[in-house]
Amino acid sequence: MPPKTPPKTPQSDRSAGSYTVPGVDLEDGHKVATILQDRLNALNDLALTLKHVHWNVTGPHFIAVHEMIDPHVVDVRAMVDETAERMATLGVPPLGTPGEIVANRSWDDYSLARASTDEHLGALDVVYDGLIADHRDAQDEIGEIDAVTEDMVIGQISKLELFQWFVRAHLETTGGELATADSDTEADAAEQASINAGHSG
Ligand SMILES: [Fe+2]
Repeated sequence: MPPKTPPKTPQSDRSAGSYTVPGVDLEDGHKVATILQDRLNALNDLALTLKHVHWNVTGPHFIAVHEMIDPHVVDVRAMVDETAERMATLGVPPLGTPGEIVANRSWDDYSLARASTDEHLGALDVVYDGLIADHRDAQDEIGEIDAVTEDMVIGQISKLELFQWFVRAHLETTGGELATADSDTEADAAEQASINAGHSG
């Protein structure tokens, strides 16, 4: 009887491939993809967080905020897909599992559950402050190497900033001040937004 061959180890390789896009140095292409992995984690996290907010907002403005979020989720999911596929194009496997997000993200899990629309919008403004600033840092770094990837990131920033304005328009006074201007944390922004809503109405 022939010796049993051991079962094949499933192929699961997270290392970069031996190629990148033509005209870009291999190391540089993989560096761009590595920067994109962090943005992929941020966008995957955002897509989940937005649905969490969609389900947990309460109060008289429920339906407006509930319905405002869904078209943007579609946009963010498209950003996730193009980011992951750009990584693969650059020769690095995109990691899209929940474990990857949790293990390697530099931000905390979204902190609110059931809460008023004002509180969620205040907290979301803080989320977008961090995510967009990180996207701009990534754009700066990527722009030194690869204008094509930079162009993709710029397109994403534009959509993220537009949605942040939708959020901020709820928090803005007629004098143009943000109720949450001095808040650095989601909890503090939620509290400030709630107090402001109480005063205005
Ligand atoms: Fe829904």
